[in-house]
Amino acid sequence: MNTSQLREKFKEVFGVEADHTFFSPGRINLIGEHTDYNGGNVLPVAITLGTYGAARKRDDKVLRFFSANFEEKGIIEVPLENLRFEKEHNWTNYPKGVLHFLQEAGHTIDSGMDIYIYGNIPNGSGLSSSSSLELLIGVIVEKLYDIKLERLDLVKIGKQTENDFIGVNSGIMDQFAIGMGADQCAIYLDTNTLKYDLVPLDLKDNVVVIMNTNKRRELADSKYNERRAECETAVSELQEKLDIQTLGELDFLTFDAYSYLIKDENRIKRARHVVLENQRTLQARKALEAGDLEGFGRLMNASHVSLEYDYEVTGLELDTLAHTAWEQEGVLGARMTGAGFGGCAIALVNKDKVEDFKKAVGQRYEEVVGYAPSFYIAEVTGGSRVIAEVTGGSRVLD
Ligand code: GLA
Repeated sequence: MNTSQLREKFKEVFGVEADHTFFSPGRINLIGEHTDYNGGNVLPVAITLGTYGAARKRDDKVLRFFSANFEEKGIIEVPLENLRFEKEHNWTNYPKGVLHFLQEAGHTIDSGMDIYIYGNIPNGSGLSSSSSLELLIGVIVEKLYDIKLERLDLVKIGKQTENDFIGVNSGIMDQFAIGMGADQCAIYLDTNTLKYDLVPLDLKDNVVVIMNTNKRRELADSKYNERRAECETAVSELQEKLDIQTLGELDFLTFDAYSYLIKDENRIKRARHVVLENQRTLQARKALEAGDLEGFGRLMNASHVSLEYDYEVTGLELDTLAHTAWEQEGVLGARMTGAGFGGCAIALVNKDKVEDFKKAVGQRYEEVVGYAPSFYIAEVTGGSRVIAEVTGGSRVLD
């Protein structure tokens, strides 16, 4: 959606001009899965599928929200003084959470807003529509109230909203990728220290194809929490002999030497995934920097295998996509991305082979799973931002 369409829609819904328009990306993770809550490395990118917003400051203390994705819900009105989680307030709990934590951090938000939202991240695809929305609200507030925020603080407020307001126990990767994204770069983040580097993403003749299982991620939350707990228990078992706080601190040989301390086969597998995935992510960064895309692709495959057999978060749909992708000509690598149990997989595919690839993978998936997957080409973009300055309208901001 472009700026003038956004402005037009805003005016249709609220009857006045918007002050500013905004964009916040979605994300895919290239490699480094289920490592972000284990103090490990991740390598995500921000993508052009994302969330658009148009907003205007109000003179009273009322927040009015409208989402083109939930048109049937109409305008949802929330008093600025009451930023509590309320189930019937639906998707607006995300903005409410962000506003709540911004206020708690001492920022003055003293008047209401009208906010129009449109997102083109497919629903339930695991491409982080909620983090995209959280960071969008952050940049809206920065602009409308002239608040200067460190980007990392905004990222943390997004995570806090997800964890403490919505009640989803996720790590920091999604908000970090969406807040810190940079054009044509992947983000190499050490989630232990939050130190990060932008790694130029030169894919040569290849593109990243996103393959959506179109499966609803029903068990995702409970299984996600189960994996987190398994990793925490493994750490406490290893602490009997090792001075560590997270699995991310371990190299593989140290882990291997002390894995006998872990008293359960599944927990050994979970921890092994985390330790190896962490090293794979470092190797993947090096491969990218060296222009070794074949090597990078092999690491993607290895990551999927590890998530399939050791971490056990894939399932028939994601496995069918990845395994079928591996067999296609022009494919350097493929793996699930995000939390798993549905959602999306990604493949690194030669540009000239994309159409054949989609046909072959689509056909096979439909045979096995019974319905079609969807495909998108991932275009890498920068983090959440204002997309246009005010050009006219009924209010003028300085
Ligand atoms: C979800 C979470 C992230 C991360 C991934 C798995 O996307 O939101 O924090 O844990 O799963 O890598």
